[in-house]
Amino acid sequence: SQGVHSFSMQILSGIPEIRTALRDLRGDCNVGLVPTMGALHAGHYSLVQAARQRCGVVVASIFVNPTQFAPNEDFSRYPRTLEEDCRILEAEGVDMVFTPTADMMYPPNASTFVEVAGVSERLDGASRPGHFRGVATVVAKLFHIVQPEFAFFGQKDAAQVAVLRQMVRDLNLPVELVVCPIVREPDGLAMSSRNRYLSADERRQALVLFRALEVGRTLAEQGEHRAANLLQAMTGTLQQEPAIRMDYAAVVDPDTLLPLEDVRSGALLAVAAYVGSTRLIDNILLPPSS
Ligand code: PAF
Repeated sequence: SQGVHSFSMQILSGIPEIRTALRDLRGDCNVGLVPTMGALHAGHYSLVQAARQRCGVVVASIFVNPTQFAPNEDFSRYPRTLEEDCRILEAEGVDMVFTPTADMMYPPNASTFVEVAGVSERLDGASRPGHFRGVATVVAKLFHIVQPEFAFFGQKDAAQVAVLRQMVRDLNLPVELVVCPIVREPDGLAMSSRNRYLSADERRQALVLFRALEVGRTLAEQGEHRAANLLQAMTGTLQQEPAIRMDYAAVVDPDTLLPLEDVRSGALLAVAAYVGSTRLIDNILLPPSS
């Protein structure tokens, strides 16, 4: 009808349909999967671009996964912008978009979950119990449905990356994870679908997350290698913005998410804070130094 864009890219919501369509398209090509919850931003575009560079067929999924939200979280108000997302994905050269419904992904009798013990209880997993069980389960299902050779995730969700790497290792999944750098606004704010929730004041207050990380990085570059001192400086910086509520600041091993004492062999500096009612996260990877 008038005003409704028609897509040449395939948009499929059924699991049998996407399987059949992929069987026809795959040929000798590598398939790349970009799993998303929609509300796409430049961070997602960079994942699609990385997928295009490596893979002959690029599939994006858009699914706001109910099992990774706790009852008190923002599942029902999470931004849903399907039409706009599909326009962007088509323009970025995606071949196929998978948009299942919750009933298709979780039929009423579904009772199997993927639990990546240990790492799932750290950082965001500590603040959001059950979150990574939902993430690991839905990503494992997407891998089985799409059977990609490569799957693309953003470094913004550093704990998610650690959980999924462990899952791929533990379950011998035949997929290579490609982790793409954080994309930032010109003033440093990490791109996030949840930035849409921020008022103008909150948008300004949110900059303290990146500032805290930069303070940590600068200290490390100046030769400070004791994690406790980096952490203290990061926490002190977050406290300079009284309008936000810190959830965590951490200096950890990027694979295990366990706290480090010394950052000379590389470290993940990570922060999470509530800005108004919006929970934001950000991080920086410190490379190994001598
Ligand atoms: O990072 C996200 O957007 C989600 O956690 C993911 C990986 C699509 C799983 O629902």
